Amino acid sequence: MAQRPILEYPDPRLRMRADLVTVFDASVAELVDDLLEALYATRAIGLSAPQVNDRRRVLVADLSGDGSAPRVYVNPEILSSTMPGIVEESCLSVPGVVGNVVRSTRVRVRALDRFGQPFERDLEGMDAVCLQHEMDHLEGKLFVDRLSPIRRLLFRAAGKSRRRAV
Ligand code: NI
Repeated sequence: MAQRPILEYPDPRLRMRADLVTVFDASVAELVDDLLEALYATRAIGLSAPQVNDRRRVLVADLSGDGSAPRVYVNPEILSSTMPGIVEESCLSVPGVVGNVVRSTRVRVRALDRFGQPFERDLEGMDAVCLQHEMDHLEGKLFVDRLSPIRRLLFRAAGKSRRRAV
């Protein structure tokens, strides 16, 4: 399938809460494949279904750098999170913006795989951070919502001047 376009801020579809996956049919497999294809095409480390305009609770990640460790999470839930740290993030849906946010650097997650089989996994460091960033997308949240108030003001001001410029 042709690569699905990635929605960009301030598209209101990025602000909708995604729905639980209850049926594991061919369309789930297709969505997972499309997300992985887009992930590798854009050289991102994580991508969520809402970013390609699909309102299901599905996300993918691969932090290997060489496409060797695709991870699929359907209906993910964080069971525990510890070790908060400040990390620099960016997002395909908010091009050109980089900012520091507070995230847990250790999480335990429960999710279903692409076939609907449950699993639990412990994640650390960027694996944990990436999962939380992508899970935010499932809630209609963007990392810029988590910037400090002053950074958020600067981000909004930059957005206004961008809009004036075009
Ligand atoms: Ni993102």
